[in-house]
Amino acid sequence: MNANGSERGLWSSKMGFILAGAGSAIGLGNIWRFPAVAGQNGGAAFIAIYLASIVLVCLSVMIAELSLGRHTQKNPVGMYNTLAPGSKWKYLGLLGVLTGWGISSFYSVVAGWTLGYIVKTATGVFSTLDSDQITQEFLNFVSNPVAAIGFHAAFMAITMLILFGGVRAGIERWSKILMPILLGILVLLVIRSVTLPGAEKGLAFLMQPKWDELTGRGVLAAVGQAFFSLSLGMGTMITYGSYLAKKENIVSSAVWIASLDTLIALLAGLAIFPALFAMNLEPTIGAGLIFIVLPNIFNKIFLGQLFGTGFFVLLGIAAVTSLISIVEVPAAYFIDERKWSRKKAVWVSGIGAFIAGLPAALSLGAVDWLTNLMTIEGRNYGFLDLMNLLFGQYSLIIGSLGVAVFVGWKWGTANANSEIREGNPDFKQAKTFGFFIRFFAPIAITGLLIYLLLNPNAFA
Ligand code: TRP
Repeated sequence: MNANGSERGLWSSKMGFILAGAGSAIGLGNIWRFPAVAGQNGGAAFIAIYLASIVLVCLSVMIAELSLGRHTQKNPVGMYNTLAPGSKWKYLGLLGVLTGWGISSFYSVVAGWTLGYIVKTATGVFSTLDSDQITQEFLNFVSNPVAAIGFHAAFMAITMLILFGGVRAGIERWSKILMPILLGILVLLVIRSVTLPGAEKGLAFLMQPKWDELTGRGVLAAVGQAFFSLSLGMGTMITYGSYLAKKENIVSSAVWIASLDTLIALLAGLAIFPALFAMNLEPTIGAGLIFIVLPNIFNKIFLGQLFGTGFFVLLGIAAVTSLISIVEVPAAYFIDERKWSRKKAVWVSGIGAFIAGLPAALSLGAVDWLTNLMTIEGRNYGFLDLMNLLFGQYSLIIGSLGVAVFVGWKWGTANANSEIREGNPDFKQAKTFGFFIRFFAPIAITGLLIYLLLNPNAFA
């Protein structure tokens, strides 16, 4: 039993919550996905929209999700059922549960690559290779079905083991030690990357927006990336908020999580793009970007093999702390709504995500039709890219719009404010929060979706 009189867990402290929340937010989204989508969408202008989305839309959605979770102490379906019983809102909660599977399926595949790269870097596979050979090594690795499925399975197994035990002790303790080390290695990479000959082109790519090259597709990708990186739109922050004590300050926690997350993403960009341009690689290579660029940098730094191994270990850990927060959403749904044991809920959620990830694991060269599923606007989409787009972008945009409308117009900002005031008695930004959650966020997101309907070729 805890202070709230239930048997659901609670974070041990505000610090513990911020670390768990930041652990969820900081992951492959920052270091793998952010540089990949920024590279495909022209760099600086994309990043400007991404930053604007965080401040203008995501922060209020995060505060809303945390308030909903803490108020109801429920998973997303249970939350909608409690606050709007018998209504259709619960389908938005179910979309979140489904999205949990959709995202975890490809997330675990890419996280599995980090395991392979730990082994490869530690054994010095890259140290004698030039840039072209490093690219080839990546392509050979991800198109090998045994490796792709094996590492995906291993990663999902690790995630399930943590979830069986409940997350608090392990995650809180380890995040405290490991996140600062990840930051340290990242800073080191940035320093090496920006001092390579030819790095200026990368800095210009990151800092000089070419607005005329920004497309509707790019704007959508930037907004979607902001939701993805902050773990919004599928109920992760609702679920994590449900484990948060009443005395904690939701607003300052949200600001901390968003700031740490953004810092890591920007550092990842600074580590990747100067090196990428220095090596004459293309920013648009997509899913393989960091796995191709980073081994090149490690080859050029003192003790690179050691730092490289450490980096992939920490990236794997950052990915685990995120993946547990994704798989926890379907698991919490089964535990709360279906009254399953934690054990059964984690088995079904984890195995479900593993199976859903099989086609994604085989979609980087192992199986031809999964690799070349479709071409949209001249760009090839494999199964992994498609899942990433549908669940990692559109589903999150719809889920976040739902949360904003629900809090702004159904549950009401008065209720939200009184929940926020529990741990923050002199919450002064209630008017600002009300404006963003009632008007700005819904109108901006709806505007984007209408644009999409009118310009279907901006879909992907
Ligand atoms: N934010 C995490 C990352 O950047 C991934 C993640 C965790 C996530 N929970 C989520 C993404 C919920 C979307 C929704 O790696």
